[in-house]
Amino acid sequence: MHAFRFDAGILTCDGVVLSTIADRAGTPTYVYSAATLRERVRAFISGFGDYPHAVHYALKANSNLAVVRIVRAAGGLVDANSGGEVEVALRAGYAPADIVLTGVGKTPSEIKKAVTLGVKVINAESAGELERIADTAVSCQTTARVALRINPNIAADTHPHISTGLVTHKFGVPIAEARAIARRADGRPGLAFVGLHVHIGSQMVGLEPIREAAAAVVELARELRDDGVRVEHLDLGGGLGISYDDETVPLVQDYVATLVEAVRPSGLALIVEPGRAVAGPAGALLASVVDIKHRLDGTRFVVLDAGMSELMRPTLYGAYHRITPLTESNAERVSCDVVGPICESSDVFGIGRMLPLPAIGDVMAVLDVGAYGSTMSSNYNRHPLPAEVMVDDGKWHVVRRRQTIDDQLACEE
Ligand SMILES: Cc1ncc(COP(=O)(O)O)c(C=O)c1O
Repeated sequence: MHAFRFDAGILTCDGVVLSTIADRAGTPTYVYSAATLRERVRAFISGFGDYPHAVHYALKANSNLAVVRIVRAAGGLVDANSGGEVEVALRAGYAPADIVLTGVGKTPSEIKKAVTLGVKVINAESAGELERIADTAVSCQTTARVALRINPNIAADTHPHISTGLVTHKFGVPIAEARAIARRADGRPGLAFVGLHVHIGSQMVGLEPIREAAAAVVELARELRDDGVRVEHLDLGGGLGISYDDETVPLVQDYVATLVEAVRPSGLALIVEPGRAVAGPAGALLASVVDIKHRLDGTRFVVLDAGMSELMRPTLYGAYHRITPLTESNAERVSCDVVGPICESSDVFGIGRMLPLPAIGDVMAVLDVGAYGSTMSSNYNRHPLPAEVMVDDGKWHVVRRRQTIDDQLACEE
């Protein structure tokens, strides 16, 4: 059941009335459901049954410490995409062996940090990066566990900006070159070659591309075994989509079953890195109506106090998010272009949304923003980073206070 639902006409998060949070914490504020985070992590874990697996939550989706601690308590490990995310993972209580480091363009200091910490595996993006990891490990007198990210040239059937598995994309090494690169890495001083990694895109709502990508790395692993290269695991990345608009999406169990079915003949352990499917449905953004601008054609702009600086996805990808008042009403619905206050015409949350005409000061909720919402927010137009609230067991508390202008200026001369 969705965490955010109307109860006797009032929008709630796991039983907590959202208008209470808006009144007390102010707006814009992200609200997260701890119960949903736990349930989503556990759904991934239980989907594997007794097949060897590890679920590494992709921190890029939402790395608020409170969120990460809940994921950890629910049994999820982590996928970090930067030195900063590694640091957050450590501070949330993870051991280095719980962390997978991915990411295009790892800097020398990020590589050194991962190598000296001894993370579970570094997913290398190129032959050159493997060399740099090896050199770093040798100079630190250690061995780094590495996997190679494969670009299988498979279309993810999702928005082009979150599609990552075609040769035109910057990610991974072309599958045709992977065998030779992996063979060179295996046995290279400083490296323990342990796996293959693939992530072809995000918000995938069909299982076929995922099945194809899994089959491609299974085949490559088989070839490498024939070459005498020992592969311990296959990391099939993240990518499972969520329902932003009531469209039917695969269940977590069906997604995991598809992966296991493809990999089982190899007997290799499976890693997955879900982000959106864990955190997306767990979050809503509360924002207040600050202006209503009537147009000559009878339509109107509803201007919120949150815009692309708080939630970038609609501007960045034209992403759809449901927008709803906090109280159900039978009032006539009118066409509203829901926009933010930022000085960009692309600062739009939703065009032509049929809503009861709000009043100034009313609070609206933008739904399914737990992933790639807060983490992509910025100080554009000197907006403070919004507050974040966790709802847990019928109570709520602020897990990140709203930024102040002093916070913003603290790093400036
Ligand atoms: C390497 C990698 N793993 C995991 C993820 C998480 O993907 P998602 O949020 O779609 O599950 C991403 C997202 O871009 C990624 O690049």
